[in-house]
Amino acid sequence: MSDAFDPIAFASGEQRKATTPGHSAWVEANAGTGKTKVLTDRVTRLLLAGVRPERILCLTFTKAAAAEMRNRLASQLGRWAMADDAVLAEQVTRLINEPPQAEQKVLARRLFARVLDAPGGINILTIHAFCQALLKRFPLEAGVAPGFEVMDEAEATSLLRQAQDDQIEALAQPDAPEELSAALTTVAGRISIAEYAELMGKLLTERAWLLARLAGNDGLDRLRRRLAKQLGCDQPFETTPDEGSLRAAVTALAGGGKQDAERARRIAAWLDAPDRNAVLDDYAPAYFTDKGEVRKTLATKAVVKLMSDIDAVLRDEAERLGLAMNHARGSTLVELTVALLRLGLDITQRYGKAKQRRAVLDYDDLIVAPNLWGGFNLLRGGPALGIVGSYEQCAAKLDELIARGTDAFILAGTPHLEEAYRVGEEVLPLLGRKAETLLQAAE
Ligand SMILES: Nc1ncnc2c1ncn2[C@@H]1O[C@H](COP(=O)(O)OP(=O)(O)O)[C@@H](O)[C@H]1O
Ligand SMILES: [Mg+2]
Repeated sequence: MSDAFDPIAFASGEQRKATTPGHSAWVEANAGTGKTKVLTDRVTRLLLAGVRPERILCLTFTKAAAAEMRNRLASQLGRWAMADDAVLAEQVTRLINEPPQAEQKVLARRLFARVLDAPGGINILTIHAFCQALLKRFPLEAGVAPGFEVMDEAEATSLLRQAQDDQIEALAQPDAPEELSAALTTVAGRISIAEYAELMGKLLTERAWLLARLAGNDGLDRLRRRLAKQLGCDQPFETTPDEGSLRAAVTALAGGGKQDAERARRIAAWLDAPDRNAVLDDYAPAYFTDKGEVRKTLATKAVVKLMSDIDAVLRDEAERLGLAMNHARGSTLVELTVALLRLGLDITQRYGKAKQRRAVLDYDDLIVAPNLWGGFNLLRGGPALGIVGSYEQCAAKLDELIARGTDAFILAGTPHLEEAYRVGEEVLPLLGRKAETLLQAAE
């Protein structure tokens, strides 16, 4: 059947559209459908059209993908250098959809050597390697030590651990900053040194966020206020128990069964304690189960006969105590969180100084701030910031810039036209929604 659907021919046709040098193309396709082939073909077609190899830049996410691209290109061009005339003509035709001119065939044979001879060759790099190369070329503009080295993950981890050890040692000195020693004391009362090291390790993987969002004491104070508000403990919580009724309840409970007597003991001990908060752990079980629920029975029938409103008295106290303990737990959580972040920030700063002393960078340094990329300045001159991320993240970042006082943007995209549509259709309608709602929706 001559009109049967030929998937290879169909795919090849679609692929050729995307490899046409004059078009901008955005290709989204499943694994194994020919994306890498499209990229390699596109580079080959650019070269066949006379573009100099050093003017071509291919960015990949992984090192493996970059290596794959380089290998495929080299083997394709290598084959062309050796192929006989008919085979070469057939392969170039398949690529450009028309028989090659004589000079195109000559050029095709020479591409392998051309690429080899080009200064720096074709740049097929991971994003990280590319940014690193830019920073190496423009260290002063980027504010990094000239001749810096980028540490690998293992070196970065050991430098971080060193910063953690330095902190503990420094905070043991008598002249240690008071806020930091206090933070360490707060934390040390709760967790072991091993847990501390582990927690800090996790926190420090988010160090770019830490530095960007918290930066210093002001940031920590803002965070403390926000957290306290969310946990409902931003106002002091003061309640007075109904002591008279509680003492009457103790007397009544003492005349009941074994459980009543135990409850009487707990309540009396709390009422008479010099520091009531210190004995809360003994007091709370008078009202609450292990799971934190109010007990079904707070007084047996025998006791109710002695004091008819005892159940209401004890339930009121249970409610008051529950609220007070929640408030206290919330405040503790806020203090612990702020203490941990303060210590994490300190380690991050120590780590930053250690990197500066050694003239090394880590991979996080290649990012300006979350979702912001500085590389465009270096690529095309003039001030520009790359906003990188999902549609929601980009909209949230724009909102953040607006909130900070930016009232006009000149947006550009690569490829320009397609990106303009994408921004217009997908990003701009999201503007003005609260960043948190946006990012939550994205998850
Ligand atoms: N139009 C095509 N005709 C013949 N083989 C193709 C075509 N497109 C892709 N292939 C082959 O399919 C396989 C997968 O292609 P590849 O480019 O690695 O896919 P992806 O990068 O999308 O995973 C490769 O062996 C490639 O040569
Ligand atoms: Mg691929």
